[in-house]
Amino acid sequence: MPPSTKTRTRSREWYERAQQSLVEGVNSPSRGAAVYAPGPVVLERGRGSHVWDLDGNEYVDFLMSFGALIHGHAHPKIVEVVTQSIAEGSHFAAATPAEAEAAERFRRMVPTAEAVRFTNSGSEATMLALRLARAHTGRTKFLKFEGHYHGWYDPYCLNGHSHPADQLGPRENPARLPDSEGIPALVFDDVLLAPWNDVATLEQIMRQHGRELAAIITEPIMANMGCIPPREGYLQKVCDLAHEYGALFILDEVVTGFRYAPGGCQQYYGLKPDLSTFGKALGAGFPVGAVTGARAILVRMRWGSGMVLHYGTFNGHRLTMRVIAANLDLLSADDGAVYKQIYAVGDGAIAGLREVFRRRKIDTIVQGFGPMFQIYFTGRQAIHDYRDYCQYVDTAKYSRFVHGLLDRGIYMTPSNGLHWIISTAHTQQDVEALLQAADEVCAELI
Ligand SMILES: Cc1ncc(COP(=O)(O)O)c(C=O)c1O
Repeated sequence: MPPSTKTRTRSREWYERAQQSLVEGVNSPSRGAAVYAPGPVVLERGRGSHVWDLDGNEYVDFLMSFGALIHGHAHPKIVEVVTQSIAEGSHFAAATPAEAEAAERFRRMVPTAEAVRFTNSGSEATMLALRLARAHTGRTKFLKFEGHYHGWYDPYCLNGHSHPADQLGPRENPARLPDSEGIPALVFDDVLLAPWNDVATLEQIMRQHGRELAAIITEPIMANMGCIPPREGYLQKVCDLAHEYGALFILDEVVTGFRYAPGGCQQYYGLKPDLSTFGKALGAGFPVGAVTGARAILVRMRWGSGMVLHYGTFNGHRLTMRVIAANLDLLSADDGAVYKQIYAVGDGAIAGLREVFRRRKIDTIVQGFGPMFQIYFTGRQAIHDYRDYCQYVDTAKYSRFVHGLLDRGIYMTPSNGLHWIISTAHTQQDVEALLQAADEVCAELI
């Protein structure tokens, strides 16, 4: 029986207090009342797959720090490495064995990693990848897909949020909808937009503009409109089209990296991106990002005239590098045995949820596989892209559903744009708790 978590007095009090000093009481709008109205569950500690809030309520955590916690909370090996490393000095901003040890493991796991450069977040990694692509090709424009999120760097902040379907414009020339104020309009002159999962429209756009592009950037699995897998052969086609027109193919694996396979989605789908970007699961809870790919492109960062600038006081942070090495050792142990476990637990959760919704006669699809999935309240058979998401998904119903789960000991964000995460810490019992809670919520869902 999942615990009841209806008493959240201290969360409410703390949220009131936090709003005196923090905008919206948090450090990212996705954590505050905009998503968790009337206010967030304020978390105090975590262990394995479980978290506890300020009132002592226990939850099974399926958000897992937006996927960063690939081993769950406070994994003993990570705790050991952090404790030992911090006692020796957290960071020197100097050359250390730790950064090379992390990079060596990274290269062993990621198929296209000829060299790697560590950043401090996924946003920094995608920012750097674009700068490298522009320098390498001598071109300025790039193409991104509707609904894809690549961090908050200015030129990426276009059509990353959902909008009413009648505002989206034609597929072959999508309306341009900035995600933020404060970005000069001319920044977006260098951005081409295309709908995802649609080869014919991309071919058409590439025929007109392909030769102007430094790169096409894509998430391998759309992870910021829930969880939208690519159609068969689609990603290879995007790669081929980029190359046909002399542009680079950048695969943004910030969400999928070290999650779908030891070498991420590039390994899972057999892709050879020129550059790929990582973050989240790479750091097992510590802030980090990475750009990897062809050495001929990455060496452009070498000091000298004509270099691609990439600085950062915290680049190669020693503590984080030690965590990465330990994390990647855990993930690659026994020939990547943990991936079998993640897939078994994740596929079990997906099948179980489908069965709950079928039994309760609620029009829903559970989309995704293995380590990541999303629930869409929709009458459609599948959600293939941003436009489907904007038009056919009942996000308000999803929010009510997740609020019901939060009251029954399941921690998840009510935002339909994110996705359910399975870590190596999740168990069959966690899935059973989820299914029971979901069944109860469905009984009351309107
Ligand atoms: C696909 C993708 N790329 C890049 C980023 C940015 O990463 P970070 O939040 O670490 O800056 C995110 C974050 O959610 C993401 O989902």
